[in-house]
Amino acid sequence: MNRKKTVLDIQKMKADGEKITVLTSYDYPFTRIMDGCGIDVILVGDSVGVVVAGHDNTLPVTVEEMVYHTRAVVRAEPKALVVADMPFMSYQTDLRDARLNAGRLIKDGRAEAVKLEGGENVAPTIRAIVEMDIPVMAHIGLTPQSIHRMGGYRVQGKKEEQAESLLRDAHAIQEAGAFAVVLEGIPLKLAQRITEELDIPTIGIGAGPHCDGQVLVIHDILGLCEKYSPKFVKRYAELAPVISRAVSDYITEVKGGTFPTDAHSFK
Ligand code: KIV
Repeated sequence: MNRKKTVLDIQKMKADGEKITVLTSYDYPFTRIMDGCGIDVILVGDSVGVVVAGHDNTLPVTVEEMVYHTRAVVRAEPKALVVADMPFMSYQTDLRDARLNAGRLIKDGRAEAVKLEGGENVAPTIRAIVEMDIPVMAHIGLTPQSIHRMGGYRVQGKKEEQAESLLRDAHAIQEAGAFAVVLEGIPLKLAQRITEELDIPTIGIGAGPHCDGQVLVIHDILGLCEKYSPKFVKRYAELAPVISRAVSDYITEVKGGTFPTDAHSFK
């Protein structure tokens, strides 16, 4: 497909049995490259706070930062659907805040949908944003903004009771009008059951192969994040040593006077 992808295209992919590919991006050059490869959805994730800004978790990320990164992504004019994360404290306080901040990500950030974390507890928030005609991607299971409640990044839904609660969450967010849902860090059988029961697409991260699509953080798959390497990440490249080599060569050549040469100079 060589035209702009919409939420309707993403939903149709589930109906057609075509897997949905999602990657995070936070800037113009990465977006140009991954969009050229035909990625379906670009998520401007609040993971930017960890992999780009160096925070320990996503909690410090602000709406301003999300608007800045979303604008940079959109300037690359991707064909992929652009979804922007609503950061911590931008939707938990009340429905008015949620509506205003979702609106900012669309109006100022120029995203085409927003994502927020939570299940039954955020169903009224999802409904309020969807009523403004802003598509919402939900996110349940291991929700990084709940790190302190979860006591760390732990797989969710292993116990029967927790699994039942996640199933209720999945139905509640679909009922509230979410167009898709990220399932993070849950057992693959539970993800399979949710995927089979829901009409909206499920996008898995650490949720096994049965989801309708998969999402990963771009810095993780390129080997650019040395801090963490969760079990669910597959590294498709090791770019850190490549960058190290280039920077070391540059330092050596400048110090040794072999760069720049006449070829890099003006007469
Ligand atoms: O912030 C993010 O990158 C995310 C994905 C990992 C799902 O929420």
